[in-house]
Amino acid sequence: MPQNTIPVNAPLVPDEAKTYVLDCLGSGWISSAGKYLAQFEQEFAAYVNQKHAIAVCNGTVSLHLILAALGIGPGDEVIVPAQTIISCLDAVLYTGATPVIVDVEPDIYTLDPAHLEKALSPRTKAIMPVHIFGHSADMDPINAFAGAHGLFVVEDAAEAHGARYKKRICGSLGTAASFSFYANKLITTGEGGMVVTNDDALAARMRSMKDLCHLPGQRFHHAEVGFNYRMTNMQAALGCAQLLHAEEFLKRKQRMGRRYTEGLAGLRGIVTPVVRDWAVSSYWMYGIRVTPEAGMTRDEFRRRLLERGVDTRDFFWSLSEQPLLATHPSRTLPCPVSERLAREGCYLPSGLALTGEEIERVMDAVRAVIG
Ligand SMILES: Cc1ncc(COP(=O)(O)O)c(C=O)c1O
Repeated sequence: MPQNTIPVNAPLVPDEAKTYVLDCLGSGWISSAGKYLAQFEQEFAAYVNQKHAIAVCNGTVSLHLILAALGIGPGDEVIVPAQTIISCLDAVLYTGATPVIVDVEPDIYTLDPAHLEKALSPRTKAIMPVHIFGHSADMDPINAFAGAHGLFVVEDAAEAHGARYKKRICGSLGTAASFSFYANKLITTGEGGMVVTNDDALAARMRSMKDLCHLPGQRFHHAEVGFNYRMTNMQAALGCAQLLHAEEFLKRKQRMGRRYTEGLAGLRGIVTPVVRDWAVSSYWMYGIRVTPEAGMTRDEFRRRLLERGVDTRDFFWSLSEQPLLATHPSRTLPCPVSERLAREGCYLPSGLALTGEEIERVMDAVRAVIG
């Protein structure tokens, strides 16, 4: 890798973070109790306009926690989009339920509601739309379908902090939602996650399950199997500092997204992201497709960009083609769109610390490679 390579992600750690984390260390409250946890949960709930927010240790277990608390288990089916991280499939498999993998929309890469009817069975219990790359899934038809068939809607908003669907913030659009605070997310706690919901009973159940299911009023007595999915107060301190800057970070990402889209318009074989008229994208990562018109494969394109000091990453490998499916039960519908995306897609440097000058360097490199 050449020196001065522009990384795909570099986080922005605001000044308040050091103050809060040092305060936390000084207080001795370094595990999973303390004022920053309570504050982070309260402020995050307000941020996503939900009654309850429960902090957990990452955005994979948060998906599992929601499914488990909804009572999803062996014999049930959960519909998941094919173009997403393995965490979505894993979370369903942890419960013993069967994932049903469906294709995504060709322009915005989110779960295609047109496939829901074919995916439905008497065992279907939930749909897990994923707001991929910070662009919301088309939630109205998904929620209408779920309502008509008595299904839960579990939003995976891991990549979509601050994104909007028809003016409503992602994470407020289903039964419950899951967020990740991994280092490349708009708000990071290093590792971390959050579940949010407006449902009081579900929230109480998730709060109990994430902390070993102590019986109410009888600590260390347990009638159910629980999990230790707790976040630490230190992580929450970092989260509180990040949350102060959520709007500013979102604007930064959106400026980056617009600048790339303008600068890369019309390049042969490069497809830039579409934003539907009802969506406000948070441009979590700026994902492009390298089509055959580019005259090279996506892998060749990535290699040539790296030679010019620009790092990139592949899109997720389609869930429909994961080797894991050979040994685990699933139902997979045809997923040609997701499988093509997995081969053509890559994302450009998109971190919050990316400067305007670096964006120009990335675009110059793309133009030079495409020729
Ligand atoms: C769509 C999606 N869901 C879930 C996760 C899992 O989050 P975590 O890495 O915090 O476990 C990620 C992680 O990046 C993700 O992109």
